Amino acid sequence: MRKKFIVGNWKMNQDLASIDSFFNELSLGSCTCETWVAPQALHISTVIEKSSKAGKSFFVGAQNISENSNGAFTGENSAETLQDLGATFALVGHSERRSLYKEDHALLNKKLMHALSQNLIVVFCVGEQLEERKNGMTEAVIKYQLLEGLKNFPTDQLSQSRLIIAYEPVWAIGTGEVASPAQAQEVHHFIRKTLTKDLDLDGDNTPILYGGSVKPSNADGLLSQMDIDGALVGGASLLGEDFSKLAQIASKLMK
Ligand code: 13P
Repeated sequence: MRKKFIVGNWKMNQDLASIDSFFNELSLGSCTCETWVAPQALHISTVIEKSSKAGKSFFVGAQNISENSNGAFTGENSAETLQDLGATFALVGHSERRSLYKEDHALLNKKLMHALSQNLIVVFCVGEQLEERKNGMTEAVIKYQLLEGLKNFPTDQLSQSRLIIAYEPVWAIGTGEVASPAQAQEVHHFIRKTLTKDLDLDGDNTPILYGGSVKPSNADGLLSQMDIDGALVGGASLLGEDFSKLAQIASKLMK
């Protein structure tokens, strides 16, 4: 059985006071699921320090990375520096990076391959726009994002163990409009099949997370689907109480 994950994407939120409140509210008790969080890069060390006191180990990662190791790239953060801070994973291809910062398939592929070469785990995000879904293009869009983003992804086991896919339909991000469990399951199954058939990867053992308006009230239906291995959570991951509830739901489903 694959593990379940709750991964918080804090986006450009959480100051020091709210990070403190998050960890004060957290009650993970006997949670056995993976608990990960991606704060703003500048807070990575702080979050690691605070999480180590929370009695449950957290993987802490970055929301974005440079495709370069070092050099004249003003404002960028390298995988190496993020690792110096203690990051163990990076999101690549989040829809906000694709749309607001115009990150294209080729750039995302470079970022992903660079992160991998530096031994970071990559959470590669894919998802269709509302228009694309309405036009029956969801599978074609997802397949293209996977083929382009994962181009030349190494097929050895170690590299594959560093890959996680997040399916985040753009229309469900921050909108309160969540994909139904059946809609999400259908796409997750398609992603697993595409990884195996078209990319020669071990789709059956690749964690695939759902993201888009996940909250404690809808998590059970989504996370109990066969091909949904967890959630990448924005808004509901900001409060320790909600994060704890999500982790409890995910842990219960692992039993
Ligand atoms: P929300 O959970 O706020 O919809 O955000 C989802 C997301 O973008 C996580 O990466």
